[in-house]
Amino acid sequence: MDISGNSILITGGATGIGYALAEAFLAEGNEVIICGRREERLLEAKSKHPELHIKVCDVADAGERRSLAEWINVNHGGLNILVNNAGIQRDIDFTEGISGFMSGENEITINLEAPIILTGLFSPFLKGKKGAAIINISSGLGFVPAAKMPVYCATKAGLHAFSMAIRHQLLKTGIKVFEVVPPAVDTELNPEGRARRGSFKVDLKPGEFVAAVMKGLKNDIYEIGYGMTEGHIRASREDLERSFTQMNSRW
Ligand SMILES: NC(=O)c1ccc[n+]([C@@H]2O[C@H](COP(=O)([O-])OP(=O)(O)OC[C@H]3O[C@@H](n4cnc5c(N)ncnc54)[C@H](OP(=O)(O)O)[C@@H]3O)[C@@H](O)[C@H]2O)c1
Repeated sequence: MDISGNSILITGGATGIGYALAEAFLAEGNEVIICGRREERLLEAKSKHPELHIKVCDVADAGERRSLAEWINVNHGGLNILVNNAGIQRDIDFTEGISGFMSGENEITINLEAPIILTGLFSPFLKGKKGAAIINISSGLGFVPAAKMPVYCATKAGLHAFSMAIRHQLLKTGIKVFEVVPPAVDTELNPEGRARRGSFKVDLKPGEFVAAVMKGLKNDIYEIGYGMTEGHIRASREDLERSFTQMNSRW
């Protein structure tokens, strides 16, 4: 894809991978709109890059998703790229029953339902636009699941399957569908879980990861991995099972 001259909406773009993508796309001469739930984080991002457009939106809320699509239609009619990046991750222990799942935020709604519905809301709008694309941020954990975060892994495996299917379905509309598969990146994702795994240190910075992602997008690589996840994308069933055993014996 052409990584310059687009108008791009990045959900969850005020922090972490989304913010690094926002910075990279700005540097390439794109219009960038970011959304998220915390206005203070959006304003903080805008204070560093005044050219960013910001919009408070909870992508888990049906009404807010619809308002976002309408707001984009009115204010950024040239939008041609949607980046489904917003996500959360939780450790959930099902040996204790359903209480853990029920007592926190719903990963299924945020990580899977929202990208699916945003795809449906935005595809008529993107259709026919030059350089139209949807970029979904999944995870290596969608390929090799971690037992401590079973629902998160299921949402990311679901997003992988959805990306494959929708890529094929949207071919005739001219909308390209990319899937970015991050390995562990040093962000604010699941701070409680990361703190519990005290020895688990993440060295990869969002900017370094995103630099590789930008190369992949430029070269029309439809599934973009990095380091370990590059292997996951191409692995055999046996390779994936070996990685599963290795990872889950460590945590
Ligand atoms: N970091 C990693 O190791 C890693 C690995 C694989 C995949 N990923 C994926 O990468 C994506 C970005 O995560 P990150 O690592 O950059 O973590 P992050 O810094 O916590 O970023 C997540 C962003 O999503 C936003 N968000 C969460 N729920 C939202 C909602 N309901 N509506 C709107 N925005 C919402 C958050 O902002 P608000 O809280 O203000 O809404 C935040 O800006 C996620 O999809 C994550 O699953 C990360």
